[in-house]
Amino acid sequence: MLELSIEKRHDEARQGEAFGPAIEADFPFKKHFYIESYGCAMNFADSEVVASILQGSGFGATKNVEEADLVLLNTCSIREKAEQTVRKRLTEFKKAKRAKPGMLVGVLGCMAERLKGKLLEEEKLVDLVVGPDAYRSLPALIEEAEGGQKAVNVLLSRDETYADIAPVRLDSNGISAFVSIMRGCNNMCSFCVVPFTRGRERSRDAGSIVEECTTLFEQGYKEVTLLGQNVDSYYYVGEQAAAPVTFAKLLEQVARISPTLRVRFSTSHPKDITDEVLYTMVRYDNICKYIHLPVQSGSSRILQLMNRTYTREWYLAKVNRIREIIPDCGISSDIIAGFCTETEEDHQDTLSIMDFSRYDMSYMYFYSERPGTLAARRFTDDIPEAVKKRRLQEIVDLQGRLSRESNERDLGNTYTVLIEGNSRRSELDWSGRNSQSKVIVFPKQDYPLKKGDYVRVKVTGCTRTTLVGEIIKDE
Ligand code: SAH
Ligand code: SF4
Ligand code: F3S
Repeated sequence: MLELSIEKRHDEARQGEAFGPAIEADFPFKKHFYIESYGCAMNFADSEVVASILQGSGFGATKNVEEADLVLLNTCSIREKAEQTVRKRLTEFKKAKRAKPGMLVGVLGCMAERLKGKLLEEEKLVDLVVGPDAYRSLPALIEEAEGGQKAVNVLLSRDETYADIAPVRLDSNGISAFVSIMRGCNNMCSFCVVPFTRGRERSRDAGSIVEECTTLFEQGYKEVTLLGQNVDSYYYVGEQAAAPVTFAKLLEQVARISPTLRVRFSTSHPKDITDEVLYTMVRYDNICKYIHLPVQSGSSRILQLMNRTYTREWYLAKVNRIREIIPDCGISSDIIAGFCTETEEDHQDTLSIMDFSRYDMSYMYFYSERPGTLAARRFTDDIPEAVKKRRLQEIVDLQGRLSRESNERDLGNTYTVLIEGNSRRSELDWSGRNSQSKVIVFPKQDYPLKKGDYVRVKVTGCTRTTLVGEIIKDE
């Protein structure tokens, strides 16, 4: 196995998932599209925008490739392996295309943006290439492709946020939804391809975000996750007379929709998360006490080469500040093993910062050089693969211990859990999450509960990844 993540992040756990509509449309569509999404939650949210645009031009969603007139892959470029997966998938579609002449295959998302027209030449099976800021032009591009032309639009925009498009929720559990609050990234971490594939950072109209979350709540959703590559730099300047909206203000506005709507967010950049955000989290019970705070490395020297703009000490002070203001806050991280020039000492610094930060969970990767990034241009990818893998394994092992210890600390505690559905193992058990984003599985017993209900659950046991509990009736 190339990637050794002990917990698959929601992006990768759902990697390659085929989507169908959450609610079947009550009128038949003449044509159908099939979409698979790869990469981060933002790509999944984008697929829901794409679904909305396509429905507007007469395409209904299908989960069945054979039924599709249009097959779309919403792709990710973050690591080489992510791109390999998509290439493999494209060749697999060859068969479906042969069986159904006229079927169009399109590549959307970050790989479309990175490789542009090259995809049309390299992969003879691709008819459409559409970058993340060009989805509004899909209907016109489909028409071009139907007329036998190769259709490409990979223009990046400085202001596109799709604010006015109501996403069509695909494959949703009806309880939790992703809501994009911004696009792009201005950070230029040296290892990262995102600024090139997603363009400049821009914040979406705050009013449209609150409106979308309110509609979701009215439709029965109980949890929204506000999405951006760096949510803490959200900054919306609307009407001239109105005060600009910061991330803390936006969080507050969304939290005020209802005390029974949970609010989550991802991702926080350690350099930008403010006390104001932390205090806002404390003020509202329904803002979940969980922060994803990627460290990437524990060595200040490597952090500088990564252009993360904070040091080890600065990061540790941030973790302390979070624990001081929100003592029960869950904290998770992203870690890269084997970045250019990383020594054993640097690696030990990463292990020790993990230990100190006591992450509940981490997403762990070994460094994968991406063409065109600052690191690819400036540094040599000089750590042998075997060393990268060994270091990653040590990181994974340590996180395994930290996750277990974190779960053991929860034994005996009682949490409010939002029921998300049956547990994977048994229909006799519910599965849900607490505010800290930990999964808790517990027997349904005879209580008349359903998906979307809140329930108090006492933790009676745990594995490395899951808490096990029982319903507390009266406290
Ligand atoms: N915006 C988020 C991260 C987005 S990418 C943030 O700043 O934290 C998700 C994760 O992928 C990153 O946090 C990083 O750990 C990992 N990643 C990004 N580029 C990578 C690369 N070239 N090789 C290995 N991992 C990478
Ligand atoms: Fe990439 Fe850094 Fe932007 Fe995250 S903050 S998307 S790691 S450049
Ligand atoms: Fe991948 Fe693009 Fe997201 S590169 S991680 S899909 S922003």
